[in-house]
Amino acid sequence: MNLDLTEDQRQVRDAVRGLCEREFAPFAPRWDREGIVPRDAVSKLAEQGFLGMAIPEEWGGVGYDSRTIVVVLEEIARVSAALAIMIAVHNSVGALPVFRFGTDAQRRRFLPRLVSRELAAFSLSEPGAGSDAAAIASIAVRQGDTYVLNGSKNWVTNGQQAGVYLIFARTEKAAGSRGLSAFIVERGAAGLVVGNPEDKMGLRGSDTVSLSLEDLRVPLEQRLGEEGEGFKIAMSMLDAGRIGVGAQALGVMRAAFDEAVRYAQLRMAFGQPIAKIQAVQWKFAEMERRIQCARLLIQQAAWLKDVGQPYTREAAMAKLYASEAATWVTHQAIQVHGGYGYVKEYAVERFYRDARVMEIYEGTSEIQRLVIARGLLKDGAAV
Ligand code: CAA
Repeated sequence: MNLDLTEDQRQVRDAVRGLCEREFAPFAPRWDREGIVPRDAVSKLAEQGFLGMAIPEEWGGVGYDSRTIVVVLEEIARVSAALAIMIAVHNSVGALPVFRFGTDAQRRRFLPRLVSRELAAFSLSEPGAGSDAAAIASIAVRQGDTYVLNGSKNWVTNGQQAGVYLIFARTEKAAGSRGLSAFIVERGAAGLVVGNPEDKMGLRGSDTVSLSLEDLRVPLEQRLGEEGEGFKIAMSMLDAGRIGVGAQALGVMRAAFDEAVRYAQLRMAFGQPIAKIQAVQWKFAEMERRIQCARLLIQQAAWLKDVGQPYTREAAMAKLYASEAATWVTHQAIQVHGGYGYVKEYAVERFYRDARVMEIYEGTSEIQRLVIARGLLKDGAAV
């Protein structure tokens, strides 16, 4: 695995970094305070192709490989983790499944909107089915050429703004994970009731809603994949999504680290900048170590995906490590700031709140450990 960025990847990174610093960084604290990332921010990313990162050019996307996508997500997360998760979910578990599992007719119908302007949402979890995704209770009953969906979904990122929803429901009661199917549902469909945004601890600019499916009629031609394939579609897409969450965590911890170093070089105590104090330097050494380890695991998972090798376990390791590192690094960044780190005037307060959920969504740390252990027992240790 070559860790150097290619010239193309470097150009993409520099372009997205410039865009983020110019257009988003000044507003990210306000998005957090007001609890919304404006449409305009998504449109600016759309103009540069960032809504179609995983979609090939012949289908209107920019066709980036995974290593380029993680670079983009890291840069966005450095200024706004809320915007990063909106874009990560849209690309990895929203638009990509339509391309990967969709028919040509579905691709023609939905991809042009998704790569150019509309956000996608991924709706797997339910009040009674979070970590145990196969326990989904929402049902989809086929009536001729239509499915009728009933049930409740929750934790739907982009749920308020999305134009297209990927919804998982049970088509066969007794079949466990093999009884789930995936459906593409359009915003405004009768019977799709979108709840109010959750009042979250962090990532406040990104909306997270519940959905109520009330006799929601979905035409047969909007089923994604075969009947019964829903669980595998969800799991394989989450593999890609988890690399993206790792990259998001990496962006947040880098931002927190930079703030902590900057502060420590200015803040005086005991007659010197606190950066000269060994106890603070040790924190920096540990932060840097975790940042680099996270980057290597993320790059490894992305590279495996790019070369077409299995990467489920590596994606879980990248997500697990990076999210735990992000909560640790942001915690230490507050510690370096002392009392100032605990007030909203300093960015590290936001980074800390934003990082926390990364150990929870797209599979908790406990689920990542389970995925890693199952892979290990099945295929042997990674070499
Ligand atoms: N890719 C493809 N297929 C997979 C797979 C993968 N990564 N993982 C499992 N499968 C297949 C298995 O091979 C198996 O196939 P067969 O039926 O043919 O044998 C089938 O799926 C069932 O697999 P398991 O027996 O392993 O299933 P399980 O019920 O034990 O669950 C789990 C496995 C790993 C715990 C899974 O339920 C899981 O990942 N849970 C967490 C769910 C999650 O991440 N939710 C996040 C929702 S999105 C979100 O966070 C909101 C957001 O918008 C940010």
